[in-house]
Amino acid sequence: LNNGLGLTPQMGWNSNWINSYYLITYSWNYFACNINETVIMETAKAMATNGMKDAGYVYVNIDDCWAESRDKNGVIQPDSNTFPNGIAYIADYVHGLGLKLGIYTDAGTETCAGRPGSFGYEQIDAQTYASWGIDYLKEDWCNTGSNQPLSRYSIMSQALNATGRPIFFSLCDWGTDNPWEWGPTVGNSFRTTGDIKDNWASFMNNLNLQIPITSYSQVGGWNDPDMLEVGNGGMTTTEYISHFSLWSILNAPLIAGNDLRNIDQTTLSILTAPEVIAVNQDPLGKQGALVRSYNGGLQQVWAKPMADGSRVVVLFNTDSISADIQLEWVDIYVQNTATMTVRDLWARSDVGQYTGSYVSLNVPSHGCAMLKIY
Ligand code: GLA
Repeated sequence: LNNGLGLTPQMGWNSNWINSYYLITYSWNYFACNINETVIMETAKAMATNGMKDAGYVYVNIDDCWAESRDKNGVIQPDSNTFPNGIAYIADYVHGLGLKLGIYTDAGTETCAGRPGSFGYEQIDAQTYASWGIDYLKEDWCNTGSNQPLSRYSIMSQALNATGRPIFFSLCDWGTDNPWEWGPTVGNSFRTTGDIKDNWASFMNNLNLQIPITSYSQVGGWNDPDMLEVGNGGMTTTEYISHFSLWSILNAPLIAGNDLRNIDQTTLSILTAPEVIAVNQDPLGKQGALVRSYNGGLQQVWAKPMADGSRVVVLFNTDSISADIQLEWVDIYVQNTATMTVRDLWARSDVGQYTGSYVSLNVPSHGCAMLKIY
């Protein structure tokens, strides 16, 4: 969307974390509404002070369940129990920390958790959000009947634009009607899948759904395979490193989904890995793609061209045992006669110089190597 936002994938946090842990087994609505202003403000404070803001995280996003009703003029009212001071109060606080505030609505009559939706109220809602100082809107797709995503999202997109306030627009129709084909004209990012859960199978499912659509994502309009589960406890550290590496090379939004108020050092070091984030935030904005599979996809080579002319690869081992994975220069459009330097982006050190190919030795089960070739 040509609104000056999303020139690189958005980075931030989303209040879904309350649910994501339970989503290993339960559905979204089971604990969905367990948010309040204290959680949001404490999270913002944590993000501003724990190194995440310095690493590039900026959006603090309130997901479903903040809205309660509409007044006689149709103006949306926040939940009086959980957000008693209103949303502008939180926006002021978040802005004071040097961060931005996101909010959530739905293109239908009600949100997925049964709160008021924006159907027919797009203009008044966009004006309300702008008046509160909102910087980001996620619009969901529950209770939309037979409406078409493009038509409903276009209405909100124009309503946001008409406010004159730059508001990042995040579409969430779960891939309905191939949003990667039209999403970049109406939104800054668009969900391409159903909800991620904090387990290996769900992560792999969302990853696999990206394989055919990596060429659609672009500057200002990013494919969104859903938030990060890093730190929520349902996967191993090795798996979370793979999750973060792949979301980075996919140019996915880096939206943390964990409890930032109680974050451990391992989780923080994954979420703030500078050379991995730099891949995601590269100004060329070209999404990484699967360029080679071995053993029926058990081992995978993902590659992405960078603005400085280098290539980044993720050598990913989905198998239940460790494996050596080979990278051939020809897979990343470099002549096999060339001698190239290989850099390990997690270790933040050069591995050495190689001609024609590089073999990453012993990639652990469900692990990866993330390398820059230059
Ligand atoms: C849908 C969305 C989720 C979340 C919930 C809120 O399931 O896909 O990301 O926003 O609704 O109810």
